[in-house]
Amino acid sequence: MNLIEQIKENAKKDIQRIVLPESYEERTIKAADIILQEGIAKIILLGKAGEIEENARRLGLKHIGKATLIDPLKSEKREAYADMMVELRKSKGLTKDEALELLNNPLYFATVMIKYGDADGEIAGADNATGDVLRPAFQYVKTLPGITVVSGAFLMFLKDKEFGENGLMVFADCAVHPNPTDKELAEIAVATAKTTKALAHIEPRIAMLSFSTKGSAVHEMVDKVVSATRLAKEMDPSLRIDGELQADAAIVESVGLKKAPGSPIAGKANVLIFPNLECGNIAYKLVQRLAHAEAIGPVLQGMAAPINDLSRGCSVSDIVNMIAIAANQAIGSK
Ligand code: ACO
Repeated sequence: MNLIEQIKENAKKDIQRIVLPESYEERTIKAADIILQEGIAKIILLGKAGEIEENARRLGLKHIGKATLIDPLKSEKREAYADMMVELRKSKGLTKDEALELLNNPLYFATVMIKYGDADGEIAGADNATGDVLRPAFQYVKTLPGITVVSGAFLMFLKDKEFGENGLMVFADCAVHPNPTDKELAEIAVATAKTTKALAHIEPRIAMLSFSTKGSAVHEMVDKVVSATRLAKEMDPSLRIDGELQADAAIVESVGLKKAPGSPIAGKANVLIFPNLECGNIAYKLVQRLAHAEAIGPVLQGMAAPINDLSRGCSVSDIVNMIAIAANQAIGSK
């Protein structure tokens, strides 16, 4: 059984409630139908029941009847949700009228449902930009205790099995935090190690990437990666991590031996931590397109509940996979 099949099977053992705010979106409702057919999760679709049912009929979907349909404009929970929002955002001066207005937006309604305990996870982003999906989550679900920064990891399934762990690598941050400080980059490394163990079931060997290997270049951008590597080791002394390393030194054994002799990671990395979002986002998309790798993610890490953003270029099967991953994250966080 491949890794994604394992993730789906694991989700079936402890059914979680996943809310989909973009029920009007064709790929999303098709993915919901597959999830319900296969019994991977309970699905909550936000929107007008008549429109959702009509779309399901038009698309020939047979299982949407098993979903819970909630109209954010009519839900009897609006008052209770708005009260909780006002309480959570009182330092920001949020009024009840403003909270009720925000609840008209399914992206806000979904995250508030999770915070209230009415759903276990959310998938969105097939039709909304990353910032619009994440902002409500940052404001109401917030980060895990002790974590200050949310980041996004991708599971990269490479055709060339010589790299990473039999072709599986984890890349981060490819989705969220534009320019992390050294401490934030260290947190991203620690969080990615946890994601790698929990979802990919492999022992992480982490390379902190740079344009320099072990002092080959001198620049403040290199200093940030060196400092982040040291801080990550302090945060979790059990981590197998090294930096700063160039990408070739990280993943090609002969180059690693030459540029970073004695490094426990060089040439063997299966987790790549990029120094900023520009590098991470560009790198995963290039590997996906040029090397025909399967990229599954972004799996958001550091959030207090699983809320995963999709790329707007996603396929139905990407959405199915991300729902199964969110369900696994919800199970793992219990
Ligand atoms: N982790 C945790 N909390 C955060 C983070 C983070 N990485 N970033 C912002 N926040 C919190 C802030 O502390 C703030 O909380 P508060 O309201 O309680 O004070 C709240 O979120 C809003 O903060 P802003 O700085 O106003 O957030 P903003 O909306 O400007 O930025 C965002 C956040 C949207 C995620 C921004 O960092 C961004 O646009 N990132 C890039 C996302 C992107 O476009 N990725 C590439 C595409 S994804 C793909 O290709 C798969």
